[in-house]
Amino acid sequence: MFETLQKATLDKIFVLMAEYAADPRANKIDLGVGVYKDPQNNTPIMSAVRKAEQRILDGAKTKTYKGVVGNKEFSAGIVDLALGGVVDATRIRTVNGAGGTGALMILMQVLGRARPKGRIFISDPTWPNHIPLAENANLTVHYYPYFDPATRQVDFGAMMKVVDTLTGDDVVLLHGCCHNPTGANLTPAQWDAVVESLQRTGAFPLVDLAYLGFGDGLVEDAYGVRKVAASLPECMIAFSASKNFGLYRERAGVAIAIARDAAAADVVSSQMQNIIRGTISQTPDHGAEIVRVILEDKALRAEWETELTQMRERMKRLRVKLADAIRRKSNSKDFDFIATHSGMFSLLGLPQSVVEKLKTEDGVYMINDSRINVAGIPEDRVDELADYLIAAAG
Ligand SMILES: Cc1ncc(COP(=O)(O)O)c(C=O)c1O
Repeated sequence: MFETLQKATLDKIFVLMAEYAADPRANKIDLGVGVYKDPQNNTPIMSAVRKAEQRILDGAKTKTYKGVVGNKEFSAGIVDLALGGVVDATRIRTVNGAGGTGALMILMQVLGRARPKGRIFISDPTWPNHIPLAENANLTVHYYPYFDPATRQVDFGAMMKVVDTLTGDDVVLLHGCCHNPTGANLTPAQWDAVVESLQRTGAFPLVDLAYLGFGDGLVEDAYGVRKVAASLPECMIAFSASKNFGLYRERAGVAIAIARDAAAADVVSSQMQNIIRGTISQTPDHGAEIVRVILEDKALRAEWETELTQMRERMKRLRVKLADAIRRKSNSKDFDFIATHSGMFSLLGLPQSVVEKLKTEDGVYMINDSRINVAGIPEDRVDELADYLIAAAG
């Protein structure tokens, strides 16, 4: 049987993680992996999560199946967090996903059923997994330009030149906030312009919301998704609780579909449930239940928000420190963009040869395309990292 198979390619990030783990140098720096890091370079369990988990352990009476749509209270809490009541609940349907990726899988498969081989426009560059997710869902991947390598900001003119040409049969995938990999994000005015374009063309937005609260705040980061949901008759949102609740391996996510009316929403819901039933039958609940407990309890929710704020502020501080150190040492503003980006990532715009040199000579690991995870910046070694980057960038 297996002789007919060829070796499939794995995401390069896993190769990089293995290389980093095997590197014996004590002074190595991991800016590669896409998870939050605390000052001790750990990805901690948030204290609100620990408390919620304990409560579940003490109070749970069964592990029986939850039902195909998953944990409804978790989904309702996430809808409230992401949308803040801007859409009438009668038009919204949700199912749980196995993480944000699972939510994207379900939503894209629904879109692939609605428009077999239909075009989905994805930002160039994007999170690499968007592409196989779309292809596996019978969608045809196209790109819109997003990043200007000269300014390291969004090339909004180039983006809109493509977005304005979309049709009512097209899907456009938008990063809700904290763009991965670039760290460059749409301003509120730019979101408004995108939404105006979608109103004109009828193109369908799918918003990937994997980092809510990692950029400027829970409400601030929701500007785009709320604008889309409030202004357009239909949209979808893939929410991930992996980063903002630190629940990575628990696979907590929500697939949200917003339809024109309740009847259309019921049809979409049946499709989402049909996809779950025919693939994994039921979605994981442990992470979902943790989030539900946190969101429904005033004190735990406040504790979670405080922790999330601390994480966000730490990432912002590291951004400013690195940008300042590079400016001070090189007398150039070339890396100032690191401080203006938001979220966990910045795309440095370095050639692959330089990325390779940083890894082999200095032990500084980043993704091939020169994406760094700012949470991995060692706060006490910012000057050293600045030196490496200045020397490498030449
Ligand atoms: C842009 C983007 N979307 C979705 C996800 C999905 O995350 P998860 O499936 O771990 O919840 C990620 C994770 O890295 C991401 O960066």
